[in-house]
Amino acid sequence: MRAAFRSLKMRAPDCELMLFRDGFRGLARRLDSASDRSVDRKDVRDIIHRGGTFLGTGRVPELYMPPADAPDLAERLAAREAFLRVAAVNLFQTRVESLIVIGGDGSFRGARAIAAAYRETFPGRPFRVIGLPGTIDNDLHGTEFSIGYDTALNNVVDAIRKLRDTIESHRRAIILEVMGNTSGWLALTSAIAGGAAAVAIPEVEETWDQDELIRRLIAGVRRDYRYFIIVVAEGVLKRAGADWSQRLARRIETAAPIQEILGHAMEARINSVGHVARGGSPSALDNTLAGLLGAAAADVAQLGRLAHGEPIAGDVMVGTRGTRVIVTPLDEVIEHSPRLVERESDLFQLSNKLMLSAGQAF
Ligand code: F6P
Repeated sequence: MRAAFRSLKMRAPDCELMLFRDGFRGLARRLDSASDRSVDRKDVRDIIHRGGTFLGTGRVPELYMPPADAPDLAERLAAREAFLRVAAVNLFQTRVESLIVIGGDGSFRGARAIAAAYRETFPGRPFRVIGLPGTIDNDLHGTEFSIGYDTALNNVVDAIRKLRDTIESHRRAIILEVMGNTSGWLALTSAIAGGAAAVAIPEVEETWDQDELIRRLIAGVRRDYRYFIIVVAEGVLKRAGADWSQRLARRIETAAPIQEILGHAMEARINSVGHVARGGSPSALDNTLAGLLGAAAADVAQLGRLAHGEPIAGDVMVGTRGTRVIVTPLDEVIEHSPRLVERESDLFQLSNKLMLSAGQAF
């Protein structure tokens, strides 16, 4: 918000930026002249170091497309229609020409529906959606990194480092559950960066195999590993059973070969980083990324292109590839998201090299 505001104003001081509060809810309620107004520098002052969003956010059930067999299908469709109409009228009344949406694919689906309602109600009026990738899951097509991911990654690695103190002293195994419903980016990279012994991610089924994990831990105990960190993504618990971590902890504590080698059972504990990963001051890299992408969104809104690019038509998302800013049609982003971790990727293969293996000979 700060980067978009500063870039817009730097180029054209008369250009106005409005902030709609509490996500799409803020777009579809009665407008309030005190808060729904063009913002000035004070509104985005002193926010660069703050976690969360002072703007507010939230999921809007009315925007989800109900399943065709929902018992209350008619009412839900009517509620969705009403929500979209009010949002379209509010955007028209506030003369918004570019709607910048920060979020993941769910937010972009909502924005696309709002854009369709707008175009249907006010045909021919200039209007476009510009998406900014913002999700700790880092699973959007059209960008290598999403805003918030690096902060969450650092928070999880910080938690792993703190957990090491206990498990090293007590010679324990720790199973750490981290967010990531469909994609394992956060689990995989935090496990790599935190030096975990193993990681389980939703995309690669073999990583959930508890027989294999136990074989690996036995190899580790033989090699005098003092403790084990096993990172598991939330999505694995959804697919392999909510008690996946409890089952693994029990198996570690009762594994006869481990008891024989150590002369006692190895204790196992389960921890969850949960929403803690999403909070706190943004990392420097996230601030930089938000700056780069916020300014790029301003370019698209004002110039209809990136600062040094070709004209861009339609609804888009700005993202990064390497150090470059790229623009991808919003439909394509939605169609190809979530972007999953591939088994053949260098990053996943790295986890095999750096983590404990059952046949480890060193
Ligand atoms: O989509 C991002 C995400 O952080 C997921 O990893 C997680 O499953 C979900 O949000 C949690 O959402 P909520 O805060 O609504 O529980």
